[in-house]
Amino acid sequence: MSKRLEIASILKQPPLNETITVMGWVRAFRNNRFIALNDGSSFHNLQVVIDPEQLDEQILKQIHFHSCIKATGQLVESKGAGQAFEVIASEVEILGDSSPEEGYVLQPKAQTPEFLRENAHFRMRTNTFSSVFRIRHGIAFAIHKYYNDRGYYYMHTPIITGSDAEGAGEMFHVSVFEPNKAPTLPDGSIDWKQDFFAKATNLTVSGQLQAEMGALAMGKVYTFGPTFRAENSNTSRHLAEFWMIEPEVAFFDIHDDMDLAEDFCKYLIRYILDTYPDDVAFLDKRIEDLEKNMPKEQRRPMGLLETLRFVVDNDFERITYTEAVDILLNSKPYKKGQFEFPIEWGKDLQAEHERFLVEREFQKPVIVRNYPKDIKAFYMRLNDDGKTVAAMDVLFPGIGEVIGGSQREERHGHLVKRMQEMNIPEHELWWYLDLRRFGGAPHAGFGLGFERMVQFITGMSNIRDVIAFPRTPGSAEF
Ligand code: 4AD
Ligand code: MG
Repeated sequence: MSKRLEIASILKQPPLNETITVMGWVRAFRNNRFIALNDGSSFHNLQVVIDPEQLDEQILKQIHFHSCIKATGQLVESKGAGQAFEVIASEVEILGDSSPEEGYVLQPKAQTPEFLRENAHFRMRTNTFSSVFRIRHGIAFAIHKYYNDRGYYYMHTPIITGSDAEGAGEMFHVSVFEPNKAPTLPDGSIDWKQDFFAKATNLTVSGQLQAEMGALAMGKVYTFGPTFRAENSNTSRHLAEFWMIEPEVAFFDIHDDMDLAEDFCKYLIRYILDTYPDDVAFLDKRIEDLEKNMPKEQRRPMGLLETLRFVVDNDFERITYTEAVDILLNSKPYKKGQFEFPIEWGKDLQAEHERFLVEREFQKPVIVRNYPKDIKAFYMRLNDDGKTVAAMDVLFPGIGEVIGGSQREERHGHLVKRMQEMNIPEHELWWYLDLRRFGGAPHAGFGLGFERMVQFITGMSNIRDVIAFPRTPGSAEF
């Protein structure tokens, strides 16, 4: 098998007139003669030309949409339009047929995202999904490159933990107890002491608290791993299992944190524009085609490529939460009663409010900072006004919140007070408090929702279509 050449390398350095072997999946088969072959190494297909008169009839019959084949032949310059080279096959072998008569469900026509989600084991063979997953890989790689080039250390924080970092209580429990057979205490509550870890544990919602330990020793660290939220949100932006990148930096304040967030987002987008131009161009065209027949109000204000360039080239808008509330209270949709949720200082901004700020008021990414302390997590640093905390959210067009972060409360007394107010048991986070008692320092960080960034860069409208195996309420197939 090792003799095969990958399509990406053939296109880069074509071994003209040599006999080569390629392997891949049939993306199209025209006129019983022209195969568009794709092996995943590139966005581009390689044309394999067969002679139906020469080829064994049995083999010819098995060249179906998405059949896997091996072809050997001479690489020549193509006379046809659409490709520079083609392989004139002298030998074709079927590695794996995919006959519709046997029940292969994908067809060479436009298929809905819902249908492809039900067939997620095959969907990466389509143009759209292979582009999405190549770009997903590219972003993951760029994330490591960004931090490595800047002297950050990659830190692996635990998947199983005893703490609820966000204090939101939306956790998946981890236990070896059989349902309904958990030992109980005299008061009827479960006796977690008898469980595997001798305490109640859950899947992590965030690696932040552990990353803070790293920052307060190694200076600059980041995590990149799966996180889990049992929130019952059936939206196009929520997953129960998603990946998060969490940089955490000693001697950073909220402004340094926002600078890092903006630079990081722009870097990732620029990296994909530079490294995967063909995939981005294809996805750009895909959206253009999808929106062609939509009424104007439902179309995006800009194409995908234009949006990405725009975000890279312009400064993000930075406003405080208080300013955001003022803008919203003076907005047309508010005055016309078009917002579903109330706007009032102290209440959290809803998706509709965030979208107004980003898509209509500023028409670019917006960073909102200094939120009321009562709607944010316990670890955020209290501002001098005593009412707000040094938190920041980065809001993107079409996606909403891509990043949530903050300067952390490094003052032991303030942190203890906040935990007491929010009923967070101090003994459970003894180590977190210790970090404030011994060798503490101002520090800050944030979490980037990986899939939301992939969604933004690929222009996919549903988050379930940018992760290979989406986990959402009621769904954990594959
Ligand atoms: O705003 P969040 O909850 O922040 C934290 O977890 C902090 N501990 C991060 C930190 O400061 N180190 O989540 C961070 C980001 C959100 O901005 C969003 O992009 C994404 O994670 N996110 C989700 N993505 C997909 N599905 C979900 N259910 C998500 N919940 C949050
Ligand atoms: Mg958040």
